[in-house]
Amino acid sequence: MSAGTTLFTGSGRLAMAQPHVADAAATLSPWALLVRDGRILWVGSPGDLPAEPDADDVLDLGPALVTPGLVDAHTHPLYAGDRSDEAAARLAGESYTGGGILRTVAATRAATDDELVELARLRLAAQLAAGTTAVECKSGYGLSTREELRALRLIARAAEGLPMRVVRTFLGAHAVPAEATSASDYAKTVAEEMVPAVAAEGLAEFCDVFCDGGFFSLAETETILGAARRGGLRLRIHAEQLTRSGATELAVRLGAVSVDHLEQLDEAGIAALKGSDTVATLLPAPALVMRDRLPPARGLLDAGVTVALASDANAGTFGGWGEMPLVIGLGATALGMTIEEALTAATSGGAASLGLSLERGRLAPGLAADLVAWDAEHEGAFALRLGALRAHRVWVAGREVRSGG
Ligand code: NIG
Ligand code: FE
Repeated sequence: MSAGTTLFTGSGRLAMAQPHVADAAATLSPWALLVRDGRILWVGSPGDLPAEPDADDVLDLGPALVTPGLVDAHTHPLYAGDRSDEAAARLAGESYTGGGILRTVAATRAATDDELVELARLRLAAQLAAGTTAVECKSGYGLSTREELRALRLIARAAEGLPMRVVRTFLGAHAVPAEATSASDYAKTVAEEMVPAVAAEGLAEFCDVFCDGGFFSLAETETILGAARRGGLRLRIHAEQLTRSGATELAVRLGAVSVDHLEQLDEAGIAALKGSDTVATLLPAPALVMRDRLPPARGLLDAGVTVALASDANAGTFGGWGEMPLVIGLGATALGMTIEEALTAATSGGAASLGLSLERGRLAPGLAADLVAWDAEHEGAFALRLGALRAHRVWVAGREVRSGG
């Protein structure tokens, strides 16, 4: 965190991402933003600055588009190996069974700690360079107590020295490992052995389950998430990606912070989320790579559900890195969101999906001063330049962590 007071100003557009404040402007131009000790103290029009601000530094960002730091609420960055061949086969007509997850598990188990840390650190650094200042990172390519705990510890090591807010999620129930006798036996091990170990060591903030046809059932998911809740972990679910399983209704009933994917969600599922506190975290990139149905973003937004957009960067269904500008562009093109909705979903929505709404994701007093100045003058560039928008300068908690990109 940078000490002292900095006054940021610009003649261009400042995107605020304030969806819950009815009368707040979505963008300001020109704008001024005061940061003290890493937090936003004041934001508004330059003419309304409270008094002569006693700033140690003044930074004029000129006509650049400025947004909150992006929040990627769903990634799987700790893995080794390469499954591009599987993607090619799938696009040639083979179906996705998720069996490929076990290939990544084998490659990840075989990799050394240093190799995995290096791979994950490269992925996180690429994310930061592309404007992501807070990121969720899942385990899930270990699938044994020892390997899952190793993965969560290595995520922390990979994040060391990187100025990002990293939220760890335990996803021991990502697939059933080859050595397990059955899904239900393995789910029991996850609930009774892994979750308590993760909780006791404080290795994760969230617990996730891949609740879908061929993976974990509603009952197994409830067993695992019940144990997670007792261990003090917050809950999220990989839901309705391959089949309409009812995982959404389960998530709402359990008070999960987020349900992620939702490609197969129907009207009843939207109705279940409506009025709940559960965030719908949508992942357009893997849906497109999988040539799957697209999640019903429009229906969810029209129902007033809080929507997040995230990358789902992973080993098998979207192998990208540093791609949140692309994800925003896909939200606004493929998913039918407005640019403003897509940008809000990738900032404020992402923060809600991680339970960080009071900490990050918007430009409002009290929140961390995470800012990105883009090489563009209008947020429409996220769609127009689909994935090619560059984070020119990035600040985390008021400290510049990237310049001139
Ligand atoms: O979010 N759906 C489950 N997990 C990942 C894919 C993992 C993999 O194929 O390696 C996802 O799409
Ligand atoms: Fe995922």
